[in-house]
Amino acid sequence: MNKRKFFKTSILYFEKDPSKCENKKNSIKFYKNGLLIIEETKIFASGDYEELISLYNIDKKDISLEYEDNLIMPGFIDTHLHYAQTEMIGSFGEQLLPWLEKYTFPTEMKYKDPIYAKEMANFFIKELFKNGTTTAAVFTTVHKESTNAIFEVANKYKMRLIAGKVMMDRNAPKELLDDAKSSYEDSLELIEKWHEKDRLLYAITPRFAPTSTKEQLELARKLKEKYPTTYIQTHLSENLNEIQWVKSLFSNAKSYLDVYDSFGLVTNRAIFGHAIYLEEQEYKTLHEKGASVSLCPTSNLFLGSGLFKIKKLKDENCEVKIGFGSDVGAGTTLNMIKTLNEAYKIVSLEQNSAQNREALSAFEGFYQITLGASISLDLEDKIGKLASNYEADFVVIDFKADEIQNLRMQKIEEQNKDDLAELEEKLFALMIMGDDRNIKATFVNGKKVY
Ligand code: GUN
Ligand code: ZN
Repeated sequence: MNKRKFFKTSILYFEKDPSKCENKKNSIKFYKNGLLIIEETKIFASGDYEELISLYNIDKKDISLEYEDNLIMPGFIDTHLHYAQTEMIGSFGEQLLPWLEKYTFPTEMKYKDPIYAKEMANFFIKELFKNGTTTAAVFTTVHKESTNAIFEVANKYKMRLIAGKVMMDRNAPKELLDDAKSSYEDSLELIEKWHEKDRLLYAITPRFAPTSTKEQLELARKLKEKYPTTYIQTHLSENLNEIQWVKSLFSNAKSYLDVYDSFGLVTNRAIFGHAIYLEEQEYKTLHEKGASVSLCPTSNLFLGSGLFKIKKLKDENCEVKIGFGSDVGAGTTLNMIKTLNEAYKIVSLEQNSAQNREALSAFEGFYQITLGASISLDLEDKIGKLASNYEADFVVIDFKADEIQNLRMQKIEEQNKDDLAELEEKLFALMIMGDDRNIKATFVNGKKVY
């Protein structure tokens, strides 16, 4: 028998979007007295403790009680961020375009140096684990060096990571520009080297429409055609000045999204960051082409970009797949729990004018950073659940990281609600008050990495 590990613990994962189920129970797998069984790099089984013990004839002395008072969930998934911007998080007082000029571009120049890039990639991946994030879709910089660095580090942990070299051949400092041909050749070389190597995946990464010529976008299309299982990641409709700029640069385009669409870049496995100001047709195109959106609440608030319309994106007649992104360094945290906290507030503000005000529930929030995100990345058969045969990426949550959390959780427990109602209240309090202190441990590919 292969070596198995057994954890006695509470277990939670989602089967469906709870916001789409009349009866929440149908969307949730929750075992208050649960057992998680890992075999090498995969989930072997998860379920009720007593049932699994007798089903598999498990010797109790083999079971770890280390996480008995905790909750195990699938690892969190961050669908949009920039690793080279980790060091400039919290840079003062700008909107998107001046922020890029003043802080972002000068910082990204440093990532030509492979030694520096490797050092920062190591720091970044460790921070992800510390925050419970086990998969992310990452922009590197224009340099091959920085892209190799992040893949090398991720592969050390056999992590499921999506990343790609930024393609950018205009409207940025010359030290950060490639050209259409070199961006194609470098991306191709990186795809050959990293895409589908172990758990790594490559994303063709034109930064955003203003920094790519038509020639470059045309070659991005060629790459996607040549390697259809690769991803595309870019930015879309984040800021009103940005949108005006796109309109002036691509005067024939019907909308911002139409620029990408006209180069065949709106497809399955395409991830569009932000998507704040969309026109009706753009929602429709995203839906029809099976593309996904990454919503970035802390970034949108920090740069004053605007609020997003999650309920509109999830309209049942025209649903667009969504995940949440930290968007560090415009985002102000790598922590996906804190990201949900801000998402909750944005949804509430957005819903102010709605007739049936519908806030972001804790179940919906945690669904979106686990299974919802894996669906948006077309990885729902591999990550995002704790069912058998899924890749063993998970987080161990401690609900009581400090005194006030302890007090709040105790008060919830004293109410003696049914198990699911109690869980929902505790998860909501976690979503509003939680941070990296609530991450007791993180496992990637069956191994403890934090
Ligand atoms: N649009 C183009 N580049 C960027 C970036 O680095 N961050 C954000 N938030 N938006 C962008
Ligand atoms: Zn971004």
